[in-house]
Amino acid sequence: MIEKKESWGSRTGLILAMAGNAVGLGNFLRFPVQAVQNGGGAFIIPYLVCFLLMGIPLLFTEWSIGRFGGKNGNHSTPYILDSMSSKPYWKYIGVFGIFTNIAVVAYYTYIESWTLIYVLHSVTGTFSGMGKEAVSTFFTQYVGFSGSDYGIPLFPLMVYILVLGLNVYILSTGLGGIEKVAKIGMPLLILFGIILAIRGWTMGGDFATEEFPLANAWDGINFLWTPQFSSLSDPKVWLAAAGQIFFTLSVGMGSIQCYASYLKENEDIALNSVTAGFTNEFVEVVLGSAIVIPIAAGFLGMDWVMENAGFGMAFQTMPFLFQQWGSAFATIAGVCWFGLLFFAGITSSLAMGTPWMGFMKDEFGWGKIKGAVSFGVLALFMGIPTVLFYSEGYFDEYDYWAGTVSLVVFALLETILFAWVFGMDKGWEELNRGADIRIPSVYKWIMKYITPGLLTLVFLGALLTPEQNDWAAAITNLFHGDGWTLDHSSLIAKLSFQDIKAEIALHPENLEQIEKKRLFSGLARTQLLVLFLGIMLIVWYSTYKRKQAHL
Ligand code: ALA
Repeated sequence: MIEKKESWGSRTGLILAMAGNAVGLGNFLRFPVQAVQNGGGAFIIPYLVCFLLMGIPLLFTEWSIGRFGGKNGNHSTPYILDSMSSKPYWKYIGVFGIFTNIAVVAYYTYIESWTLIYVLHSVTGTFSGMGKEAVSTFFTQYVGFSGSDYGIPLFPLMVYILVLGLNVYILSTGLGGIEKVAKIGMPLLILFGIILAIRGWTMGGDFATEEFPLANAWDGINFLWTPQFSSLSDPKVWLAAAGQIFFTLSVGMGSIQCYASYLKENEDIALNSVTAGFTNEFVEVVLGSAIVIPIAAGFLGMDWVMENAGFGMAFQTMPFLFQQWGSAFATIAGVCWFGLLFFAGITSSLAMGTPWMGFMKDEFGWGKIKGAVSFGVLALFMGIPTVLFYSEGYFDEYDYWAGTVSLVVFALLETILFAWVFGMDKGWEELNRGADIRIPSVYKWIMKYITPGLLTLVFLGALLTPEQNDWAAAITNLFHGDGWTLDHSSLIAKLSFQDIKAEIALHPENLEQIEKKRLFSGLARTQLLVLFLGIMLIVWYSTYKRKQAHL
């Protein structure tokens, strides 16, 4: 009996699943922080330019690559890339498209587990009556697991395993299950987002206190939306904007290609990809910018926000701020906020499971249950240390190498493959087959020259970030023959632990603590490397099997 080819149930389901893949924690947690740290209105212009010149072209590229792969029965990047060139090494470059997903899902589901537990705490009124410090400490104790049994964070670990288990269960039901979650999760998430955004927009300065008399939500909105053209010449802002575009659209990961490989041969990809991309941008730019920053600015003032903007704001500050609206609305706001984050997270983490499952099914005939469970085991192997050693920086190490560097490297390589190896004429034809819109032909040119060019600049910028991120001074020094001094945040400096050495030089009194950090960074990197090499080995073995089958 010929097995029926798996495909998406409906166009709405496909778009919601793809949009759900993109809309994630990045939209609500990462975007506002990046925007504030990079000058608010100074960030928005580079961000939108990166969306148009890198984001949209990469969506076109990845959807085309994916549908092309699916036509030949390949559902993950190793063999999709392999089928686009005669050179044998592309399948190993395709390993990135499985690796990144497993490494990112490992820490991503940990955050997802926080959101779930915070929904429950909001419902049961845990934060009611707690002061600012108490709410903040509540979070640090949770992740720092003080008060836990035998030095093991048993409860956070259990919640993490539960959330990972939920992902595995949904994945085991196949595309149908993913579509169902997207159809429920996405509308709810947008509804919750709109409720909170309206509250953010209408807050004004009504909640200013004696301590923060100048607090006003509009200061937050103005800060984000008053364009500042001066930033256009600052490479640091461009790098941050590009990084955010990759993360938020989930490009350079391998999950879009996998989802697109389940499309039918002549199904539209032009309009679908743009719709999913713009839905993500609506959620990020309109809703993502209207919640954390204005609400925090409305209570604590913009100066506080600028000083404290960070990932923890969502968990350490928001539950306290919601209390200021009275206990009934605090519960509603808490459920909306953490519920929204949960749905945003799960629709993205589900997408991260599919490339591994697709690969194991294509190459080894593994069914959905075996594929999903093995994915869960791998994610757990990668994820447990991020729970145990969260405070030692394990989590950040994964986020940097897998959630940031890998995306840029893979996006650059696949763009070169698509536009220059596969060929832009063929690629353009692939993209436009069955298209429901006419893509402006300037995009053919952008995809061939501008996108790879910009990606190369972004990569070099991260590799060689100069001291203090001061590009003007670095270039002047170079012309004066004074060489190029790397910043500790540059990729090369991080690879050689120069950042940690500099920290020791600066704070010799913290030697023990810094050495511990170096140890955990090294362990995290080793674990990532083992995962990458392990997947490479599986790809090598599957090639051997394919060859045997042809003998
Ligand atoms: N694109 C997903 C996010 O924004 C990964 O969180």
